Amino acid sequence: MRIDVMTGSVEFQRLPKTVVPRHYALYLHPDLVGLTFTGHVICDLEVKSQCSTIVCNSAELEVTDVTVTDANGVTQRPTVELSAELETLTCRLQQPLAPGAAQMRLKFAAPLTDKMRGLYRCKYTSPCGEERFAAATQFEATDARRCFPCWDEPALKATFDITLVAPRDRVALSNMPVSREEEYPRRPELRVVHFATTPIMSTYIIACVVGEFDHIETTSDNVCIRVYTPLGKGEMGRFALDCAAKILPYYKGYFGSAYPLPKLDLIAIPDFASGAMENWGLVTFRETCILVDPVNTSTARRQFCAQVVGHELAHMWFGNLVTMEWWTHLWLNEGYAEFAMYLSTDYLFPHYKIWMQFVSECYMGALATDSLRTSHPIEVPVSNPSEVDEIFDGISYDKGACVIRMLHEFLGHEAFKRGMNLYLKRHQFGNTFTEDLWAALEESSGRPVRDVMSTWTRQTGYPVVRVSERREGTTRIITASQRRCLADGKPDADDQMWMVPLSFSSSQSPSETIHKVILSERTTEVRLENIGPDDWVKLNPGAVGFYRVQYPPEMLEQFKSAIATKVMPALDRNSLVDDLFALVQAGDSSTVDFLRLARSFVDEDEFTVWSCLLSSLRRLWPLLQHTEMLEPFHAYCRQLLRTIHKRLGWQQREGEGHMTTLLRPMVIAHLVSFNDQPTLAEAERLFRAHQEGTGTLHADLRSAAYRAVLKRGGKAEFDMMLKLYREAEMLEEKNRIAHALGSIPDPELLTSVLEFALSDEVRAQESVFVMISVSANRLGHELTWDFYKRNCQILCDRYKGRLLAQLVKSLTEDFTTEERALEVEQFFVEHPHPGAERSILQSLETIRLNAAWLQRDRQALSEYLAQCQ
Ligand code: BES
Ligand code: ZN
Repeated sequence: MRIDVMTGSVEFQRLPKTVVPRHYALYLHPDLVGLTFTGHVICDLEVKSQCSTIVCNSAELEVTDVTVTDANGVTQRPTVELSAELETLTCRLQQPLAPGAAQMRLKFAAPLTDKMRGLYRCKYTSPCGEERFAAATQFEATDARRCFPCWDEPALKATFDITLVAPRDRVALSNMPVSREEEYPRRPELRVVHFATTPIMSTYIIACVVGEFDHIETTSDNVCIRVYTPLGKGEMGRFALDCAAKILPYYKGYFGSAYPLPKLDLIAIPDFASGAMENWGLVTFRETCILVDPVNTSTARRQFCAQVVGHELAHMWFGNLVTMEWWTHLWLNEGYAEFAMYLSTDYLFPHYKIWMQFVSECYMGALATDSLRTSHPIEVPVSNPSEVDEIFDGISYDKGACVIRMLHEFLGHEAFKRGMNLYLKRHQFGNTFTEDLWAALEESSGRPVRDVMSTWTRQTGYPVVRVSERREGTTRIITASQRRCLADGKPDADDQMWMVPLSFSSSQSPSETIHKVILSERTTEVRLENIGPDDWVKLNPGAVGFYRVQYPPEMLEQFKSAIATKVMPALDRNSLVDDLFALVQAGDSSTVDFLRLARSFVDEDEFTVWSCLLSSLRRLWPLLQHTEMLEPFHAYCRQLLRTIHKRLGWQQREGEGHMTTLLRPMVIAHLVSFNDQPTLAEAERLFRAHQEGTGTLHADLRSAAYRAVLKRGGKAEFDMMLKLYREAEMLEEKNRIAHALGSIPDPELLTSVLEFALSDEVRAQESVFVMISVSANRLGHELTWDFYKRNCQILCDRYKGRLLAQLVKSLTEDFTTEERALEVEQFFVEHPHPGAERSILQSLETIRLNAAWLQRDRQALSEYLAQCQ
């Protein structure tokens, strides 16, 4: 055991490889009334070299009756040590084990907690109004060890025979289909369910569920696919079932091999910490990520459900069949699944134009996060469980997906696909390092994949490419040079460089790439032939490369009319806006310049461009929220949105595009945020008509309408909304209401929203977002931070992992002064938050960026906004 000299805590190490598991026979008996579980495991082992200790993982389990049997059938009772800190179980043997086979048997027991990890309990209400419990599992990343002692590392794959004891009238599910069932001896109300042996797999994708569910089913490619829903809601699984049935054959073609299990269940779990989890054969979902109701689900939610199904099913190959060797390579799972979900969604719903949305939903956020000094490389060393939890973040997911998309473009679809197929075939049922993927892609394409990609996955950040141009007749000579793009605009001490796949377009054919070259030095010169004197040249068409571009004013000037006339493709307009905004944050350009440029977008009608513009404006909001500039800023924003709002109206029109349908609620929601009185009034009118049954309020508009009603309301409206919350049957609807409660303009009521968030009435996984909604209200910002500080212990206990990280980040990153940064820093020094450490550092960095930004631009902004009115 090693002690970390800095923190005094125990340093985690990987399990020794002297004894490894080959097969587990796992028997689990959850008690849904007593809220405990018991079980036993018989584990077939392979002893690699003679040894007298066996170490595996176990956490918060009571372990008894441990025996170890050698290949000759000689059984011994080892002494057993459990380390709560290291989450290990160590058996010390009297007689050393010789290399070869051995077997370990043990029994275990633990409470069924409500922590949403390990084997845990979920609360639901039966159709007759009774409160009941189901049991479900969530093992990723390191929580299988909270259900049964095991070698809980992704590389220690084994096969599993799982047996569940369940009440006769409950559904019992696991990764594989049932192989046989029998009555439980002397307890006729119970049955014993045996499941078929799994393929060789990692512990983190094992799953079990026992509870009451309805299901609908279909078959696709000889695989039985089912969607399990709460009782009475089977039809709400139809959309996900249809998606899954089409995605399986699509992925079979794309990945070059069939889904390897005989069945695939997708199940909605009432209490669920993340969005969904790719357990092999038994994918678990938060209800709002899978249940779709034709009338009450919004267009955006429905699209998201298709994406989540696409993401999780991609893991059946990428992650489950071929698994990262260690969490350092987590991005192979998550980045790739994120990329593949866009492929599958595009295949299912080409009219969603999902690849355009990729840029606003994924790419821009990744660029923003990765410009922080506190970002991290995609491949990041991690050891203890809280560090592992922490990397399920925007870098692994979004930057991961972005660099894969960049590589996909660089190699071309066919070579990329061939390489992927080779990789999956070569490593099926095995484990990989990032390098293995590069090797396969290099082989299939003959391109220097490894050298290029390592610069993107092993270094933090990405470059900003500065360009300038010279003309020689019709030849345009572009000089491009790179340096790290940093949010604070200061130079990078490390002098990093990337292999940047540069691409160029010009006004002659704005959506075509006319030239490609790799920038592998600090600076390069590119000669483009046949460019007319008035032609513009733009880099990175389609925003595929993971870098920003900084143009000199003359080049920017040339883009202006192409933006106004929309001759320049939407994604290019988009990245110009976003890159400019980044320069503003860095202090290389002024906020006023940005607001001026934004005004030239009044006639814009693309969803992605608006999404980008509005997210930039939202980013300004925290700077201004406690200043006299807030109202003039709102006025500016209202003005900006007027034309597009008029064009879109309130009602969906027949035949309009999907992106228009998404744009309308986004525009209306922002007008509500910007206090646009006519919008608030109309939203409230629609709401009242809906309540009275004289009209309908489309699901797409409900969120905005609820916020509008609350913004104009007082105690009466607040109570009415709470009543609607309590009556709502559908979780999506409940969430819409709960997330709107933070809009009430009354500090006393806001305090009661915070208390409500932590009450029994709000599911643990949702209460974080209710608190965030209060914090997003100017009047609730301070309140929520104080509330957090007072309840920090309860909250930390409740939400280890991503939810906690998200909460502390949202509550703190909008502060704008150095004093605040110091206060936040001090608080977290006194109250360590393992698993949220990087988020806290990022928040501190953001607060300081805000402070500098506000100081720098305050005067000019205030003058500009005053003169706008
Ligand atoms: N493997 C993850 C679920 C997960 C996340 C487990 C964090 C443990 C910690 C799953 O595949 C996933 O990525 N889910 C996403 C949804 C997806 C559509 C982006 C999630 O939960 O946010
Ligand atoms: Zn995933």
